[in-house]
Amino acid sequence: MAITFTEFKDQAKEILNIDLDGYKLDRVERRTKSLMRRYQVDDFDQCINLIKNDGEFKDAYLNHFTINTSEFFRNPENFEFLKSDVFPKLFETNEKVKIWSAPCSNGSEPYTLAIILKEMGIRPSKFEIYATDLDHTILDTARRAEYKENSLKNVSDKLLKRYFKESSDGKTYALSSEIKRMVNFEQKDLINARFKNDWDLILSRNFFIYLTKDMKDELIKKFTSVLNPGGYFFLGNTEYIFSPEKYGLDKIFQSFYKYEGLS
Ligand SMILES: C[S@@+](CC[C@H](N)C(=O)[O-])C[C@H]1O[C@@H](n2cnc3c(N)ncnc32)[C@H](O)[C@@H]1O
Repeated sequence: MAITFTEFKDQAKEILNIDLDGYKLDRVERRTKSLMRRYQVDDFDQCINLIKNDGEFKDAYLNHFTINTSEFFRNPENFEFLKSDVFPKLFETNEKVKIWSAPCSNGSEPYTLAIILKEMGIRPSKFEIYATDLDHTILDTARRAEYKENSLKNVSDKLLKRYFKESSDGKTYALSSEIKRMVNFEQKDLINARFKNDWDLILSRNFFIYLTKDMKDELIKKFTSVLNPGGYFFLGNTEYIFSPEKYGLDKIFQSFYKYEGLS
């Protein structure tokens, strides 16, 4: 008899070294089945064997499971707020502002921050942008920093001209090396890894939506434990923290929370 989804998930957890129990399992099952259909894989036995023995399928599984959708200035009104309110306050009170984009996907998010800071006239020695993701293939894309139009729809013509170079076939836009140099990328599994501390702004956008309630709770605690008091936590547009005061957070605007510290 073929193995069940639960048995598949437990074996996949070991092989992939990812805590699949932290994710909404009905979604993991749906994503697994849709990939199986695409590769004409009949059952979970065959699927686990391919994950074990076929590197290409394993990468495809990881790729399919981790949704990498991202774009520059995603939900622009939040970046307006960042520029007009959060950054001025942070740079007024800190010698150096430390920012972490977690997870960063294809780099659109941390590079958006770098562009905003450049436009604000802030010198790179005054900030640090660290960006991490679980998926090493998307990190290669982020480091390459060549984007198609769909990632750039919120970038104004002025900024597009200033920071991107269109390829000769007009299909991609390469980001300027000056902006690329402002972001440091690293592979990191947010569920298993230990976090570095001392952050003034943490962005964790469009990630909690994939997690169970317990895992979300655990991660908010982990993130706030490394945020400096007075620092900010920036979530995705559809993500909320219920009872933010429980974590020492105060909601200040749409997806922004300020960390006041835990008494
Ligand atoms: C939808 S993207 C969000 C990207 C960006 N923050 C944004 O809002 O545009 C979600 C990202 O989460 C990453 N991811 C999924 N599980 C992860 C984990 N356990 N640790 C780190 N990154 C993870 C995926 O690889 C994917 O790039």
